[in-house]
Amino acid sequence: MSRMKQFDFSPALTAVRQQIGDVCPSWALILGSGWSVVLERFASTHIVPYADIPGLGQAGVQGHAGELHVVEINGRLGLVFAGRRHLYEGIGFGPIATPVYIAKSLGAETLLLTNAAGGIRPGLAPGDLMLLDDHINMMGQSPLTGEHDAFWGPRFPDQSTVYDPALRQTLASVAERAGHPLDHGVYLATSGPSYETPAEIRAYATMGADAVGMSTVPEAILGNAAGMRVAGISCITNVAAGVADKALAHDEVLQVTEQAKPRMGDVLAVICRHLSEPPPA
Ligand code: HPA
Repeated sequence: MSRMKQFDFSPALTAVRQQIGDVCPSWALILGSGWSVVLERFASTHIVPYADIPGLGQAGVQGHAGELHVVEINGRLGLVFAGRRHLYEGIGFGPIATPVYIAKSLGAETLLLTNAAGGIRPGLAPGDLMLLDDHINMMGQSPLTGEHDAFWGPRFPDQSTVYDPALRQTLASVAERAGHPLDHGVYLATSGPSYETPAEIRAYATMGADAVGMSTVPEAILGNAAGMRVAGISCITNVAAGVADKALAHDEVLQVTEQAKPRMGDVLAVICRHLSEPPPA
Protein backbone atom coordinates (compact mmCIF):
# COMPACT_ATOMS: atom_id res chain seq x y z
CA MET A 1 0.00 0.00 0.00
CA SER A 2 1.44 3.34 -0.97
CA ARG A 3 1.71 6.07 1.67
CA MET A 4 2.05 9.14 -0.55
CA LYS A 5 3.08 11.44 2.28
CA GLN A 6 6.00 9.13 2.97
CA PHE A 7 7.19 9.41 -0.62
CA ASP A 8 9.68 12.25 -0.92
CA PHE A 9 9.15 14.06 -4.23
CA SER A 10 11.62 16.87 -3.51
CA PRO A 11 14.78 15.16 -4.88
CA ALA A 12 12.93 14.63 -8.19
CA LEU A 13 11.88 18.26 -8.37
CA THR A 14 15.36 19.47 -7.46
CA ALA A 15 16.96 17.26 -10.14
CA VAL A 16 14.53 18.51 -12.80
CA ARG A 17 15.03 22.15 -11.82
CA GLN A 18 18.81 21.68 -11.98
CA GLN A 19 18.56 20.43 -15.55
CA ILE A 20 15.80 22.58 -17.05
CA GLY A 21 16.18 25.75 -14.99
CA ASP A 22 13.47 27.92 -13.53
CA VAL A 23 10.86 27.34 -16.23
CA CYS A 24 7.13 27.83 -15.94
CA PRO A 25 5.30 25.40 -18.23
CA SER A 26 1.65 26.04 -19.15
CA TRP A 27 0.79 22.40 -19.66
CA ALA A 28 2.09 18.88 -19.15
CA LEU A 29 1.58 15.73 -21.14
CA ILE A 30 2.12 12.16 -19.95
CA LEU A 31 2.57 9.81 -22.89
CA GLY A 32 1.47 6.18 -22.97
CA SER A 33 2.62 3.53 -25.44
CA GLY A 34 3.13 4.91 -28.93
CA TRP A 35 2.21 8.49 -28.16
CA SER A 36 5.87 9.62 -28.03
CA VAL A 37 5.58 10.13 -31.79
CA VAL A 38 4.38 13.66 -31.00
CA LEU A 39 7.94 14.56 -30.00
CA GLU A 40 8.93 14.33 -33.68
CA ARG A 41 6.71 17.36 -34.34
CA PHE A 42 8.41 19.75 -31.93
CA ALA A 43 11.95 20.73 -31.00
CA SER A 44 12.80 19.96 -27.38
CA THR A 45 14.68 22.64 -25.48
CA HIS A 46 15.72 20.13 -22.78
CA ILE A 47 15.67 16.34 -22.43
CA VAL A 48 16.03 14.74 -19.00
CA PRO A 49 16.28 10.93 -18.85
CA TYR A 50 14.03 9.45 -16.16
CA ALA A 51 17.15 7.71 -14.82
CA ASP A 52 18.32 11.17 -13.70
CA ILE A 53 15.09 11.88 -11.82
CA PRO A 54 15.21 10.26 -8.35
CA GLY A 55 12.12 8.17 -7.67
CA LEU A 56 10.97 8.18 -11.28
CA GLY A 57 13.69 5.79 -12.39
CA GLN A 58 13.59 3.71 -15.55
CA ALA A 59 10.22 3.16 -17.19
CA GLY A 60 9.75 -0.56 -17.39
CA VAL A 61 7.87 -1.51 -20.54
CA GLN A 62 9.00 -1.80 -24.14
CA GLY A 63 7.97 1.27 -26.11
CA HIS A 64 8.22 3.61 -23.11
CA ALA A 65 11.22 5.86 -23.67
CA GLY A 66 11.51 7.31 -20.20
CA GLU A 67 12.47 10.93 -20.87
CA LEU A 68 11.14 14.28 -19.80
CA HIS A 69 11.16 16.78 -22.68
CA VAL A 70 10.58 20.50 -22.44
CA VAL A 71 9.05 21.85 -25.65
CA GLU A 72 8.48 25.46 -26.62
CA ILE A 73 5.54 26.34 -28.86
CA ASN A 74 4.52 29.94 -29.59
CA GLY A 75 6.84 31.05 -26.82
CA ARG A 76 4.99 28.93 -24.25
CA LEU A 77 6.43 25.85 -22.59
CA GLY A 78 5.09 22.34 -22.19
CA LEU A 79 6.45 19.38 -20.24
CA VAL A 80 6.26 16.09 -22.09
CA PHE A 81 6.77 12.99 -19.98
CA ALA A 82 7.57 10.32 -22.56
CA GLY A 83 6.91 7.10 -20.70
CA ARG A 84 5.10 6.40 -17.43
CA ARG A 85 5.44 4.06 -14.49
CA HIS A 86 2.64 1.58 -13.81
CA LEU A 87 1.14 0.04 -10.69
CA TYR A 88 1.81 -3.45 -12.10
CA GLU A 89 5.53 -2.82 -11.64
CA GLY A 90 4.92 -3.15 -7.91
CA ILE A 91 6.47 0.24 -7.17
CA GLY A 92 3.53 1.87 -5.40
CA PHE A 93 2.07 5.20 -6.41
CA GLY A 94 5.11 7.43 -5.70
CA PRO A 95 6.87 7.03 -9.07
CA ILE A 96 3.50 7.23 -10.88
CA ALA A 97 2.70 10.49 -9.09
CA THR A 98 6.13 12.05 -9.66
CA PRO A 99 5.39 13.58 -13.11
CA VAL A 100 2.15 15.09 -11.76
CA TYR A 101 4.01 16.46 -8.76
CA ILE A 102 6.68 18.02 -10.97
CA ALA A 103 4.14 19.49 -13.41
CA LYS A 104 2.02 21.00 -10.65
CA SER A 105 5.05 22.30 -8.74
CA LEU A 106 6.42 24.07 -11.84
CA GLY A 107 3.06 25.75 -12.40
CA ALA A 108 1.45 23.73 -15.21
CA GLU A 109 -2.30 24.28 -15.18
CA THR A 110 -3.33 21.62 -17.68
CA LEU A 111 -2.51 17.92 -17.55
CA LEU A 112 -3.12 15.75 -20.59
CA LEU A 113 -2.88 11.98 -20.11
CA THR A 114 -2.61 9.44 -22.93
CA ASN A 115 -2.66 5.67 -22.97
CA ALA A 116 -3.34 2.50 -24.92
CA ALA A 117 -6.57 0.68 -24.12
CA GLY A 118 -8.73 -2.26 -25.10
CA GLY A 119 -12.10 -1.38 -26.61
CA ILE A 120 -15.12 -2.77 -24.76
CA ARG A 121 -17.99 -0.84 -26.37
CA PRO A 122 -19.02 -2.33 -29.70
CA GLY A 123 -17.97 0.10 -32.42
CA LEU A 124 -14.66 1.05 -30.82
CA ALA A 125 -12.15 -0.37 -33.26
CA PRO A 126 -8.36 -0.73 -33.09
CA GLY A 127 -6.79 2.58 -34.10
CA ASP A 128 -9.68 4.71 -32.77
CA LEU A 129 -8.86 7.56 -30.41
CA MET A 130 -11.17 8.02 -27.43
CA LEU A 131 -11.42 11.14 -25.29
CA LEU A 132 -12.05 10.21 -21.66
CA ASP A 133 -15.41 11.44 -20.35
CA ASP A 134 -14.91 9.77 -16.99
CA HIS A 135 -13.28 6.75 -15.40
CA ILE A 136 -13.93 3.73 -13.22
CA ASN A 137 -11.13 2.91 -10.78
CA MET A 138 -10.82 -0.87 -10.51
CA MET A 139 -7.20 -0.71 -9.35
CA GLY A 140 -8.37 -1.60 -5.86
CA GLN A 141 -6.79 1.49 -4.32
CA SER A 142 -6.46 5.24 -4.70
CA PRO A 143 -3.15 7.08 -5.10
CA LEU A 144 -4.40 9.32 -2.27
CA THR A 145 -4.41 6.44 0.23
CA GLY A 146 -2.36 7.26 3.30
CA GLU A 147 -1.78 10.27 5.49
CA HIS A 148 -3.42 13.38 4.05
CA ASP A 149 -1.10 15.75 2.18
CA ALA A 150 -2.63 19.15 1.37
CA PHE A 151 -0.47 19.37 -1.79
CA TRP A 152 -3.03 17.02 -3.33
CA GLY A 153 -6.03 19.05 -2.24
CA PRO A 154 -8.74 18.08 0.23
CA ARG A 155 -8.85 14.75 2.11
CA PHE A 156 -11.97 13.65 0.19
CA PRO A 157 -11.70 15.25 -3.26
CA ASP A 158 -14.84 15.56 -5.36
CA GLN A 159 -14.77 13.28 -8.42
CA SER A 160 -17.76 14.63 -10.36
CA THR A 161 -15.64 16.23 -13.08
CA VAL A 162 -12.20 14.63 -12.99
CA TYR A 163 -11.89 15.31 -16.74
CA ASP A 164 -12.56 19.00 -17.26
CA PRO A 165 -15.79 19.38 -19.30
CA ALA A 166 -14.78 22.62 -21.07
CA LEU A 167 -11.34 21.23 -21.93
CA ARG A 168 -12.94 18.03 -23.27
CA GLN A 169 -15.17 20.04 -25.53
CA THR A 170 -12.27 22.18 -26.74
CA LEU A 171 -10.03 19.19 -27.46
CA ALA A 172 -12.84 17.43 -29.33
CA SER A 173 -13.37 20.42 -31.60
CA VAL A 174 -9.64 21.06 -32.11
CA ALA A 175 -9.15 17.41 -33.17
CA GLU A 176 -12.25 17.48 -35.38
CA ARG A 177 -11.10 20.65 -37.14
CA ALA A 178 -7.78 18.89 -37.82
CA GLY A 179 -9.71 16.10 -39.57
CA HIS A 180 -9.49 13.57 -36.72
CA PRO A 181 -12.81 13.35 -34.89
CA LEU A 182 -12.43 11.63 -31.50
CA ASP A 183 -14.67 9.02 -29.95
CA HIS A 184 -15.44 9.54 -26.31
CA GLY A 185 -16.26 7.25 -23.43
CA VAL A 186 -15.54 5.87 -19.98
CA TYR A 187 -12.09 4.39 -19.25
CA LEU A 188 -11.78 1.63 -16.66
CA ALA A 189 -8.38 1.01 -15.05
CA THR A 190 -7.22 -2.30 -13.59
CA SER A 191 -3.91 -2.75 -11.78
CA GLY A 192 -2.77 -5.29 -14.43
CA PRO A 193 -0.45 -6.75 -15.56
CA SER A 194 -2.73 -9.60 -16.62
CA TYR A 195 -5.20 -8.67 -19.31
CA GLU A 196 -8.86 -9.16 -18.38
CA THR A 197 -10.88 -12.36 -18.59
CA PRO A 198 -13.93 -12.38 -20.88
CA ALA A 199 -16.12 -12.53 -17.74
CA GLU A 200 -14.43 -9.41 -16.36
CA ILE A 201 -14.98 -7.58 -19.64
CA ARG A 202 -18.69 -8.53 -19.59
CA ALA A 203 -18.88 -7.24 -16.01
CA TYR A 204 -17.07 -3.99 -16.91
CA ALA A 205 -19.40 -3.45 -19.89
CA THR A 206 -22.38 -3.76 -17.54
CA MET A 207 -20.73 -1.24 -15.19
CA GLY A 208 -20.56 1.31 -17.99
CA ALA A 209 -16.95 1.01 -19.17
CA ASP A 210 -16.18 1.67 -22.84
CA ALA A 211 -12.46 0.90 -22.73
CA VAL A 212 -10.01 -0.76 -20.36
CA GLY A 213 -6.36 -0.20 -19.52
CA MET A 214 -3.78 -0.28 -16.74
CA SER A 215 -2.88 3.38 -16.21
CA THR A 216 -4.01 7.02 -16.28
CA VAL A 217 -6.55 6.90 -13.43
CA PRO A 218 -3.95 7.55 -10.67
CA GLU A 219 -2.53 10.57 -12.49
CA ALA A 220 -6.04 11.87 -13.26
CA ILE A 221 -7.11 11.58 -9.61
CA LEU A 222 -3.95 13.35 -8.46
CA GLY A 223 -4.00 16.12 -11.08
CA ASN A 224 -7.66 16.85 -10.47
CA ALA A 225 -7.23 16.82 -6.70
CA ALA A 226 -4.28 19.21 -7.02
CA GLY A 227 -6.47 21.64 -8.99
CA MET A 228 -5.20 21.01 -12.52
CA ARG A 229 -7.42 20.87 -15.62
CA VAL A 230 -7.19 17.20 -16.64
CA ALA A 231 -7.94 15.51 -19.96
CA GLY A 232 -7.24 12.01 -21.23
CA ILE A 233 -7.08 10.26 -24.59
CA SER A 234 -6.90 6.50 -25.23
CA CYS A 235 -5.68 4.87 -28.39
CA ILE A 236 -7.77 1.74 -28.78
CA THR A 237 -5.19 -0.89 -29.67
CA ASN A 238 -7.36 -4.02 -29.56
CA VAL A 239 -10.84 -5.19 -28.80
CA ALA A 240 -11.01 -6.33 -25.17
CA ALA A 241 -10.86 -10.00 -24.17
CA GLY A 242 -13.82 -12.09 -25.28
CA VAL A 243 -15.23 -9.32 -27.51
CA ALA A 244 -13.43 -10.95 -30.45
CA ASP A 245 -12.80 -14.66 -30.61
CA LYS A 246 -9.02 -14.55 -30.06
CA ALA A 247 -6.36 -14.13 -27.40
CA LEU A 248 -4.72 -10.79 -26.63
CA ALA A 249 -1.05 -10.33 -27.38
CA HIS A 250 1.16 -7.39 -26.40
CA ASP A 251 2.87 -7.66 -29.81
CA GLU A 252 -0.45 -7.01 -31.52
CA VAL A 253 -1.07 -4.02 -29.28
CA LEU A 254 2.32 -2.64 -30.37
CA GLN A 255 1.57 -3.34 -34.03
CA VAL A 256 -1.76 -1.47 -34.00
CA THR A 257 -0.06 1.35 -32.09
CA GLU A 258 2.57 1.55 -34.84
CA GLN A 259 -0.16 1.94 -37.49
CA ALA A 260 -2.06 4.53 -35.47
CA LYS A 261 1.03 6.67 -34.77
CA PRO A 262 0.59 9.23 -37.57
CA ARG A 263 -2.92 10.03 -36.32
CA MET A 264 -1.82 10.07 -32.68
CA GLY A 265 0.95 12.49 -33.64
CA ASP A 266 -1.40 14.74 -35.64
CA VAL A 267 -4.00 14.91 -32.87
CA LEU A 268 -1.50 15.57 -30.09
CA ALA A 269 0.34 18.17 -32.17
CA VAL A 270 -2.81 20.25 -32.76
CA ILE A 271 -3.74 19.87 -29.11
CA CYS A 272 -0.29 20.98 -27.92
CA ARG A 273 -0.43 23.97 -30.27
CA HIS A 274 -3.87 24.84 -28.94
CA LEU A 275 -2.71 24.58 -25.32
CA SER A 276 0.20 26.88 -26.19
CA GLU A 277 -1.97 29.66 -27.57
CA PRO A 278 -1.80 32.85 -25.55
CA PRO A 279 -4.66 33.13 -23.05
CA PRO A 280 -7.49 35.44 -24.20
CA ALA A 281 -6.71 39.05 -23.24
N1 HPA B 1 -6.63 -4.43 -21.46
C1 HPA B 1 -5.86 -3.74 -20.58
N2 HPA B 1 -4.91 -2.88 -20.96
C2 HPA B 1 -4.72 -2.70 -22.28
C3 HPA B 1 -5.48 -3.39 -23.24
C4 HPA B 1 -6.49 -4.30 -22.81
O1 HPA B 1 -7.21 -4.94 -23.60
N3 HPA B 1 -5.03 -2.98 -24.47
C5 HPA B 1 -4.05 -2.06 -24.23
N4 HPA B 1 -3.85 -1.90 -22.91
